[in-house]
Amino acid sequence: MSTIDLNSGAAAAVLDEVDLVDLPVIGAIPEDLNGVLVRNGPNPLRGRFKGNDVLDWWPEDAMLHGISLHGGRATSYRNRWARTKRWADVHNPDASPALLDTNPNVNVLFHAGEILALSEGGPPLAITAELETLGAARCHPGLANGMTAHPKVDPQTGELMSFRADWKKPFLRYVVTDAKGMPSVDIDIEMSSPSMMHDMAITATRSIFLDLNVGYDFSMLSRGYRMPLRWRDDHKARLGIIHRSGDELRWFEIAPCFIQHVVNAYDADEATVVLDVIRYPAYFRLADGSSTFEPAPLGVPWRYVIDLDRGTVTERQIADIGIELPRINEGRTGRPYRFLYAAEQPTNTEFRGVIRYDLEFGSVQRYSVPEGDQNSEPVFVARPGSSVEDDGWLLVCVYRQATDTSDLVILDGKNIENAPIATVRLPRRIPAGFHGAWLPKDC
Ligand SMILES: [Fe+2]
Repeated sequence: MSTIDLNSGAAAAVLDEVDLVDLPVIGAIPEDLNGVLVRNGPNPLRGRFKGNDVLDWWPEDAMLHGISLHGGRATSYRNRWARTKRWADVHNPDASPALLDTNPNVNVLFHAGEILALSEGGPPLAITAELETLGAARCHPGLANGMTAHPKVDPQTGELMSFRADWKKPFLRYVVTDAKGMPSVDIDIEMSSPSMMHDMAITATRSIFLDLNVGYDFSMLSRGYRMPLRWRDDHKARLGIIHRSGDELRWFEIAPCFIQHVVNAYDADEATVVLDVIRYPAYFRLADGSSTFEPAPLGVPWRYVIDLDRGTVTERQIADIGIELPRINEGRTGRPYRFLYAAEQPTNTEFRGVIRYDLEFGSVQRYSVPEGDQNSEPVFVARPGSSVEDDGWLLVCVYRQATDTSDLVILDGKNIENAPIATVRLPRRIPAGFHGAWLPKDC
């Protein structure tokens, strides 16, 4: 795995929490774009990352950033570390016993009236739109002990499909909640070994699990790695397809690979499932006879077509573009869709540029980001009331190396090659992070 300088530039931690109001804007923020963009990512409580490997980046302490847009203005920016046990251990030991032992640094979910900061499998943390910590999840009792950071919400029923990949047997738990957060399905799924499942997919009728070639090997801890992950040649990669109700789990073998993120999935017909992902042919693979990882190739968009009648899977690369952190119009989650947005990766240590890929025509639009700068994942926000898939805006945080500050760039979802609709100038950096969510103003 290639190293990144985590303690300078785009990834470097910020050392304090601030509240800023009335941010300068270039261009015109759409009047109907009202809400808060919340970003999540690692920001060490002690101010510095302990190394420069991706496995030094992933497990650090959760910090949330919120940029509020209202009535055509960028009304505020604030950042807060999540108030967890590990935050209290550094900043307020007296509060430590009362706080949740989790590190929700991966994603943000708004569901059943609750905003949750999500961790890699640990307990979710309820927060407010102002980024204040509330504590354990209150509206999702079946998920309070742990869940993936990438559950999926059905945009039509409001149901939430989730899982927890555990280090202990039976290694996988599948949970569905209704639109109010109450569990309707909660089952254990037996696996032969623990698997690094970061994401999942849904269709209108099924959920899909990814049991791939990256798994847990606890000897990696004694080799100096902070997370016990590595590629396993001896593990068969497979897709698990289950009725959303929890019935009839079937596994389908695929070529060896690792998938961090799903783009989308849908039922093409009653017996055909389409799954689009960002796929790596190798990841966390130890070089022969060594304790160091080989450089990871770039991830590319990839399609699996699963024939449930014949029990077969066909797979193919969708496009020759190196991308990660894919997003879609979430109104199309689990349904046929046409547009994929993602961060471009010119190299495997950069997120630089934004891609809009049209799956129908195979065409690419690019929002270019200059060398030295870096950008976040692009979050698509649908125009209120519109049912046109790409009618909306793409919200992208861009780190500017020359000024060591970040901009929020608002792009036209239909044409990201146009000049930005608006750019919000922050006087400081939002460090490179993982995922975020748009919270509409009535959250
Ligand atoms: Fe992720």
